Amino acid sequence: MPVGRVDAINGFPERRLRRLRRTPALRRLVAETRVSVDDLVAPLFVAEGIDEPRPIASLPGHCQHTLGSLVVEAKRLCALGVPAVVLFGVPDPASKDAVGSAAWDPDGVVQRALGELRAALGQDLVLMTDLCLDEYTDHGHCGVLRTDGAVDNDSTLELYQRVALVQAEAGADVVAPSGMMDGQVAAIREALDAHGWTETAILAYAAKFASSLYGPFRDAVHVRIAGEGDRRGYQQDPANRREALEEIALDVAEGADMVMVKPALTNLDVIAEARATQRVPIAAYQVSGEYAMIKAAGERGWIDHQAAALESLTAIKRAGADFVLTYFAGELAEQLAA
Ligand code: PBG
Repeated sequence: MPVGRVDAINGFPERRLRRLRRTPALRRLVAETRVSVDDLVAPLFVAEGIDEPRPIASLPGHCQHTLGSLVVEAKRLCALGVPAVVLFGVPDPASKDAVGSAAWDPDGVVQRALGELRAALGQDLVLMTDLCLDEYTDHGHCGVLRTDGAVDNDSTLELYQRVALVQAEAGADVVAPSGMMDGQVAAIREALDAHGWTETAILAYAAKFASSLYGPFRDAVHVRIAGEGDRRGYQQDPANRREALEEIALDVAEGADMVMVKPALTNLDVIAEARATQRVPIAAYQVSGEYAMIKAAGERGWIDHQAAALESLTAIKRAGADFVLTYFAGELAEQLAA
């Protein structure tokens, strides 16, 4: 056969793959990963003491909701088929204190929101709550501080138990502890069970990295960590994969019903390994910075933000996430319904 000619009869073996990429319908038929509205959990912010929803500059399309606008948005998401929301509270700044006591106030903003959402939507929408203290403490850390300024892990657990109980009482289907305190899942499970909340599930922020990608979120909830501090003492070092898997295994052993990896796109290896080694549902959180980067580049016309969002979510699912907490939930649900 002359040099440079291809074997016209057998072709290249890769032709087999190319044949199936030829038309949109063929590609749809053989797609290994699908992003569906059923995979999406929408994060929502609800603020105390505001009369109008307040847009969040660093999270375009999102706002701090009033109780009223929260219910409207939740109904919209529910009608689009989004199965779940996760609530974050923005308390009255005057209510912040050293221990974050507004977090376990039965009349606190998240607890009131749960009541209203349940009344409006019944069981049509899964109601998840972020369970942490950072929005409620005056120093912005996720737990109480020792005299040397470090977070006191064990005294914080007791406070998380109180928060879990008021959230369960107010109607949360799922509580999601995000503070990365050792033993938090076991402590919360124990408190819930002791008070009869055996049906309240726990989604553990199990592998939560100390990430630069939470910036827009901290703007959204007005959290400043005192003294230019950071969370590296309790959140995970992004350098460590094995440690993340250890965190996940320990949370499952402590009774987590589902575990989360966060941020998502920078930790696809951890998601994949978690999916391969655990049986519980694996969630991923496409965090505020991941959303903001895509949105900002889209606003400048540098990338197609809808395509980038779908591509990222596809990658997160392909890695093995069973569902994704994402600020794109509403937009994507609209896009998928169109
Ligand atoms: C802590 C919490 C944070 C996020 C979710 N829960 C912030 C943090 O750890 O500093 C970040 C979520 C995001 O960036 O979208 N309550």
